[in-house]
Amino acid sequence: MELIEKIALMRELSEKWRGDGDIISLVPTMGFLHEGHMELLRVGREKGDRVIMSIFVNPTQFGPQEDYSRYPRDTEGDLRKARSAGVDAVFMPTVEEMYPEGFQSTVRVEGITRYLCGGSRPGHFAGVTTVVAKLFNITKPHLAIFGEKDYQQLGVIKQMVRDLNMDIEIIGVPTVRQRDGLAVSSRTSYLSSEERSSALSLKKGLDLARAMVAEGEKEPAKIINAVRQLILSHPFTEIDYITICDPEKLTDIEIIDRPCLVALAVKVGKARLIDNVMVREN
Ligand code: PAJ
Repeated sequence: MELIEKIALMRELSEKWRGDGDIISLVPTMGFLHEGHMELLRVGREKGDRVIMSIFVNPTQFGPQEDYSRYPRDTEGDLRKARSAGVDAVFMPTVEEMYPEGFQSTVRVEGITRYLCGGSRPGHFAGVTTVVAKLFNITKPHLAIFGEKDYQQLGVIKQMVRDLNMDIEIIGVPTVRQRDGLAVSSRTSYLSSEERSSALSLKKGLDLARAMVAEGEKEPAKIINAVRQLILSHPFTEIDYITICDPEKLTDIEIIDRPCLVALAVKVGKARLIDNVMVREN
């Protein structure tokens, strides 16, 4: 497995692989690998001849009050896991390599970035799309793999690729969960054991929403209220948003008369957690 820190070397290797006729999969990450990332790597391995994983904690997608400086890191563990997953190259640039002095460009998707996490994390998605566009240009993949846990991020990246005619296939992978339903996330490492129990309320809330829809409830407000109450009955929880929306546009829906997305963001102690589920009307 190659470990590459320089953009020029990464491009050279990708060019070589492309020249050999290999299909390149890219799995972008911020490291601190968990089972969710491992699933993305498995899909990348299955669909491509060469797998590149990037590890870069991207400062431009964190707000000033967010957890950039204390974002968890474990390079040694990550490299071991990458090797075991059959990754061919890990691209791990420094912040200076990615954002040298004088850097002044941004890739911004309008529309769907206004809702959900875009509302509470201004500038976040511009940071994501800018770094992902850079990673695409540097690693030149044929395929790029993203998780459905970050549903809006996946949609924003698909929109960017479509709008800017990037010649890359975007593949979404279903959310990997722990046995009790908690979506696997780097940020659960911030939780105490009591907070972890409260974090289960996200999945319980989504299950409740799904059950209410299955029983014929059509009014989003009623469902959202019930989910809110359920989550707030757990200690340490602070709701950022709960929404029932159109799965493409991410706009709120008036009545549940077609498949829709239930998505939520909840702070549990210091950790801001997100989760989502698709629901189908009865
Ligand atoms: P990170 O949070 O490290 O996530 C990397 C990828 O893993 C994302 O595509 C995310 O959706 C996916 N992922 C995380 N938890 C998952 C789970 N439980 N099941 C399935 N997939 C999961 O997302 C980012 O990094 C960054 O924003 C990035 C795209 C790398 C740009 O900086």
